[in-house]
Order: sequence, then structure tokens, then C-alpha cells
Amino acid sequence: MSPLLQVEGLARQYRLPRQRPLGPPQQVQALQGVSFTLEAGRSLGVVGESGSGKSTLARLVMALEAPTAGKVWFEGRDLHALPAGELRRARAGFQMVFQDPFGSLDPRQPVARIVAEPLEAQRIGTPAERRERAGEMLAAVGLRTADLDKYPHEFSGGQRQRIAIARALVTRPQLIVADEPVSALDVSVQAQVLNLMQDLQDRFGLSYLLISHDLAVVDLVCDEVIVLHQGCVVESGPAERLFRSPEHEYTRRLLAAAAGAGPSFHDGGDAPRAAAADRSTSPRESPR
Ligand SMILES: Nc1ncnc2c1ncn2[C@@H]1O[C@H](COP(=O)(O)OP(=O)(O)O)[C@@H](O)[C@H]1O
Ligand SMILES: [Mg+2]
Repeated sequence: MSPLLQVEGLARQYRLPRQRPLGPPQQVQALQGVSFTLEAGRSLGVVGESGSGKSTLARLVMALEAPTAGKVWFEGRDLHALPAGELRRARAGFQMVFQDPFGSLDPRQPVARIVAEPLEAQRIGTPAERRERAGEMLAAVGLRTADLDKYPHEFSGGQRQRIAIARALVTRPQLIVADEPVSALDVSVQAQVLNLMQDLQDRFGLSYLLISHDLAVVDLVCDEVIVLHQGCVVESGPAERLFRSPEHEYTRRLLAAAAGAGPSFHDGGDAPRAAAADRSTSPRESPR
């Protein structure tokens, strides 16, 4: 049987604006030669500092944009070669959770609509059935069916990320790609959301592709890890081994920095957390 997800020689180049009108176009190689396999029910962590290509990898795996080279196989199907209609149907099997629980939920839509949106995109069920499924998913992430008729601003950051997870789960995918899913949350809330993700993994037999600049997050959730540096995989292996006895110098530096021993290693510093703190005092964040 083919693995759930197989990535082979994935590369992505971006063209940057010319610096002079007739000057040479500038290119940035965001990702190159990335290969890995993720088996059903397992979790793969992707670590690396800001700009190492993590989000680019997520977008390519989600088929939100095309690679410059390489392939993404989902359940044995070459995603980037699928005709549009088949790709749309295949999307039921893989869904994404983004970093920003404030920006990723449409503030004008009630939660019922937000959570059911992937079902609507898939043209699955009647409106009543979709609402019912949305309610079940809210319950699965620890919210209430009564929350269906509320709007995103009525929830805290952690609750909004639960809503985003409910939306990702609503098509019953096998794979969730989570790009920094807890980085914007208060430290106290991060553990709750990570515990929820682990519970859901057992309950729904999920696989995670979990991207985080925070090594502790990946260590907690993931079986396997790949380390990205300047778009390349510099080391990969079981989380247990890689975090205890890293082989590559870059991985050692990441670990040392994460332990506070080296120059600070981060993805935009504490900005996401600081931004979350700012928002929590903004008028949008009404108490609940
Ligand atoms: N749409 C884009 N256009 C141009 N450059 C991009 C684009 N997306 C990402 N990049 C560049 O690709 C590199 C990797 O970015 P990204 O995947 O966002 O890294 P990470 O998520 O690890 O911080 C960076 O140098 C970034 O500036
Ligand atoms: Mg990123």
C-alpha cells in the first residue's frame, strides 16, 4: 500500500521584483530537493528557523501552489497532476490549520458557516446536515453546539484555534497540515490545544504534518522530524533520536538556541505571542 503522503524532490523558486528596470530578475530558492514519507496515523514535524521554507512546504503539500520541481503523492495520487475536479474532491482528505486564529476565520460568518465551509466546497450534504456535522465537530474540539450561531470575535484565541481545527476536521481528512498552530497563542493555552490535537489524532486516526519553530511543540506531538535549513532537509529521523542526539551541526545549534544556550532561535522572535497579547487587549477581544 502506498504511504499516506510522499514528497519527492520538492523544490520551489520565487521570482522577486527586479531591483532595476532592466536588471536581471532575482530568484529565491525557497525549497529544494525535499523528500519524505508520512505513514497513516503518524506525525511528522518540520522544524527550522524563519525563512527556512516551512510554510512554502505546507502550501505545496496542500496543493495551494505548484512546485518548481518534484512531486507530492497523497494516497498514491500525484496531487499536482490531478485535474481540477479531482483535486477538489481529493481535498476532503487533507486540510490545513493556520497560525493566526484571528485572521484565518472570516469575522462576518457565524461559526456554523465557518466550520461547514469545507463541506460546502465539497458539495457534501444538505445545509441541515452540514450544520449538524459542524455541531459534532465543535463538540469534538471541546466547544458547544450553542456556539454555532456565534461569531469569531466572541471567542478567545485558543477557542478560535479550536474552531479552526473543527473546520479542518469536518470533511474527516486523514491528514492535517498545521503551520505553527499554537505560535500565536498564550503559553498557557498552547498545551491545551496541543493536548486536544493529540486526543483528536487517536480518536480520528489522523496524521499531522506539524510545522513549528518551537522544538518542544514538535517533540511533544511528533514521531518523526525533518530539519529544514535554507530550503533543504539537513537532518531527519525519529523525534526521540533527533532531539536527544542530533547529528547535524545546524540541528545542534537549533537545540542549543531553544534551550536558551545560544543566540536566540526563533521565527519572528516573540512577535506572534506579543501580537496575541496586544490583540487580547484590543476592543475586538470582548470577554467571554
Ligand atoms: N510568495 C513568495 N514570493 C517570494 N518569496 C517568497 C514567497 N513565499 C516565500 N518566499 C521566500 O521563501 C523563503 C521561505 O519562506 P517560508 O516558506 O515562508 O519560510 P518559513 O515558513 O520557514 O519562515 C523565504 O526566503 C521567503 O522570503
Ligand atoms: Mg512560515
